[in-house]
Amino acid sequence: MAILAANWKMNGSLALVQAFAETKMHFAHSAHELLFFPPFPLIQALQQAFEGAPSLQVGAQNVSQYEAGAYTGEVSAAMLAEQGLSHVLVGHSERRLYFGETNDIVAVKALRAQAHGLVPVVCIGESLAERESGQTFRVLNAQVQALAEAEVQLRDGLLLLAYEPVWAIGTGLAASPAEISQVHAHIHTCLAELVDESDSTISILYGGSVNANNIEAILAAPHVAGALIGGASLKVDEFSRMAV
Ligand code: PGA
Repeated sequence: MAILAANWKMNGSLALVQAFAETKMHFAHSAHELLFFPPFPLIQALQQAFEGAPSLQVGAQNVSQYEAGAYTGEVSAAMLAEQGLSHVLVGHSERRLYFGETNDIVAVKALRAQAHGLVPVVCIGESLAERESGQTFRVLNAQVQALAEAEVQLRDGLLLLAYEPVWAIGTGLAASPAEISQVHAHIHTCLAELVDESDSTISILYGGSVNANNIEAILAAPHVAGALIGGASLKVDEFSRMAV
């Protein structure tokens, strides 16, 4: 069983929620664990749409680094937990790129999530320039190290990692299964150095141009626990084919 996480980003509407509601029993019988990350205003509607299908989990795409108070426009981990959410995306490359989220901010957000019983799905990955200059492992090490230094609990069940090379997101150019396996193996090695070996079994998802045609090969690659899916998760038909 793999974890398939649908990241709707700033897309979707009540009509899309309705379309997923109509396909809910198909999703409920998926061999995979399904997580949905709609935009904030659609969270409650999607939860209601999935009533009676407890295997379908809903999460948020972002959480504030602050606990509570005068932070206009922010949503706290406590609010997400009260809403009954299980997971939250943290440090997606779009958050890092467009909203200035540094490794340290990402780590604080992961801490806040864990403090409220949410599982942060922490996204890491290198840009094209970093890959081409041979910096991939150095960048990933720094991203993982920042989590460890902030004392984020790097334990299976308390955190998920998503390896999302920036050059593969939304480009139609997914990393190859061999490239993904190599990087995931490296991340596991990095984790093993940072945490007690017995705890370094964190599941690592791959994200970046995953679709119905390439998902099988990606999920079959060693060290891949699942996929974080953007564009293809907005198409009910295509996502249904992936979530068999
Ligand atoms: P994509 O996005 O599947 O559209 O490439 C993945 C992501 O950004 O999580």
